[in-house]
Amino acid sequence: MTTRTEDNPSGESARDVEREAWDARYRSRERVWTGQPNAPLIDEVEHIVTPGTALDVGCGEGADAVWLARQGWLVTAVDLSSTAIGRAREHAAAAGVGQHVTFTDDDLEALVASQGPWNLVTSLYTHSVHGGRWLVETLAGAVAPGGMLVVIGHHPTDPHAVEHPDLRDKTFAADDVAVVLDRSLWEVSATLRERTTREPDGRERLWRDAVLVARRHD
Ligand SMILES: C[S@@+](CC[C@H](N)C(=O)[O-])C[C@H]1O[C@@H](n2cnc3c(N)ncnc32)[C@H](O)[C@@H]1O
Repeated sequence: MTTRTEDNPSGESARDVEREAWDARYRSRERVWTGQPNAPLIDEVEHIVTPGTALDVGCGEGADAVWLARQGWLVTAVDLSSTAIGRAREHAAAAGVGQHVTFTDDDLEALVASQGPWNLVTSLYTHSVHGGRWLVETLAGAVAPGGMLVVIGHHPTDPHAVEHPDLRDKTFAADDVAVVLDRSLWEVSATLRERTTREPDGRERLWRDAVLVARRHD
């Protein structure tokens, strides 16, 4: 419960503030992201031959959730922003996979406390205010035995994070956040990966991703 105090006269929680900030960002533009699935997610998941249930956390406008559904996953996708979720629903319907994705405008913590587990849990650049270790620990609890967790974020040395000081305390190194996983229960891969994309003006852009992939033993 959030209490009204002199310091917090509106009674808003940090999460309410985060939700409004994200929703305002989505409302300010017709589209924020490219509509294409994240390449590092494809690299990690494409080879899985027997898709099951998947949770996409911080799904934004839904491109990853739509891609997962097209690969045969039965997807739950959650995002704090109702504007983003509305767009994600439209994207899934237009792609013909609306019946394979359940979209929810909720907080990830509330969702994993009330639903799951899933065979695959993914989080691409969710930027939690609680930090990467909290994110990994919270999402690990939502992975079914034998399932997989994929958490990808900006590494502290990622040029995008360096350019945006507000992002810096939300970056993480994969081996640092991996310490919250019990190695007797999880097989863990924690890496720093570089990739490049092409900007609309033709310039090449470098990204440095923290990539955590963990498989939960049966
Ligand atoms: C940088 S965007 C990434 C969107 C998408 N995963 C992608 O890669 O295009 C981060 C998203 O996480 C969502 N988000 C942040 N904190 C969240 C939380 N606690 N629960 C659910 N969604 C959250 C934001 O609303 C935002 O849409």
